[in-house]
Amino acid sequence: MRVLVTGGAGYIGSHTLLELMAQGHEVCVLDNYSNATPEVLTRVRALSNGAVMDFTGDVRDPEKLDEVMQGFAPDAVIHFAGLKAVGESTEKPLLYYDVNVAGTLALLNAMDRAGVKKLIFSSSATVYGDPVYLPYDEAHPTNPTSVYGQTKLMAENMLTAWTSAQPDTSAVLLRYFNPVGAHASSRIGEDPKDIPNNLMPFIAQVAVGKREALTVFGDDYDTPDGTGLRDYIHVVDLARAHVAALDYADQNTGARPFNVGTGDSYSVRDMVAAFERASGKTIPTKLAGRRAGDIAAMQADASRAKAELGWEATHALDDMTASTWAWQSANPHGYDRGDPKK
Ligand code: WQD
Repeated sequence: MRVLVTGGAGYIGSHTLLELMAQGHEVCVLDNYSNATPEVLTRVRALSNGAVMDFTGDVRDPEKLDEVMQGFAPDAVIHFAGLKAVGESTEKPLLYYDVNVAGTLALLNAMDRAGVKKLIFSSSATVYGDPVYLPYDEAHPTNPTSVYGQTKLMAENMLTAWTSAQPDTSAVLLRYFNPVGAHASSRIGEDPKDIPNNLMPFIAQVAVGKREALTVFGDDYDTPDGTGLRDYIHVVDLARAHVAALDYADQNTGARPFNVGTGDSYSVRDMVAAFERASGKTIPTKLAGRRAGDIAAMQADASRAKAELGWEATHALDDMTASTWAWQSANPHGYDRGDPKK
């Protein structure tokens, strides 16, 4: 299929491009580079047959979207473009509603104008909010506690209504757990623009000497070692879930959510120990209070994806940490963004 990948120069988008091309799909990227750099596509082209069409622009721009639809004529869209920092979403709620909700709306209107009827959406397990039970299955109540999570749920609801109003459309809603790791080449990986919000890139930057120590946000949770438990999933497994979702969208109509996780969960201290094993480095830590909005534990029931997408995660924890370390040590300053401060 011809697949438009919005936000394709991002961390998950770039890994997904490689998996799409490996399965023979033709790809095109639309990215505004607000959190990525064109260098990523240069490296993706070097790691593949090189055939990556790309447009620079914002997913909220109807004229740019029409230019892309006319120029590439996609059969399907994978929609990554969006903002994803939980804390920032509380500080800048209108920006998050604009990009994540209005951006998705603009994309759907452009897809309707161009007759494109399949969409894979980058959603998040944060739509569930505080767990009523664990592991989360797709029937778990959705009660997001952050603006970021609310924007993801609003976009999901919009997609559900879109497919109800137009019965020949399909929307696969992929609810990510915690993406980590990097491509085996170590040429692409996670490269947060500023101080990393997330655990794994922060640990990696400590290991490579860019950060002094990891701050552990609380050790008084009701978990085995008191630190937060999360369901970490290798980004290549996550990318492959998008390829499986594309095949599902080709065979099915309507909107359907799928958890994309491993079903295992690890604590902050587990992750630090695993990273020390992988890197041979000592990760200094300091204890602080809980981070606002954090919950004790998250864990996926990913059985629906296995049954209906024919997908399941295959990469183990040690590969998640080893591939992260290989990426970070090969690229201590991340991508060259032309930023002297970096
Ligand atoms: C993991 C654990 C922290 C940093 C968020 C979004 C989710 C997705 C992934 C977008 C928690 C602890 C972290 C640090 C720490 N984002 N931690 N010190 O919050 O589970 O998920 O990012 O798609 O939607 O909600 O991920 O990596 O920030 O935190 O102790 O410096 O690590 O308290 O227990 P989170 P995280």
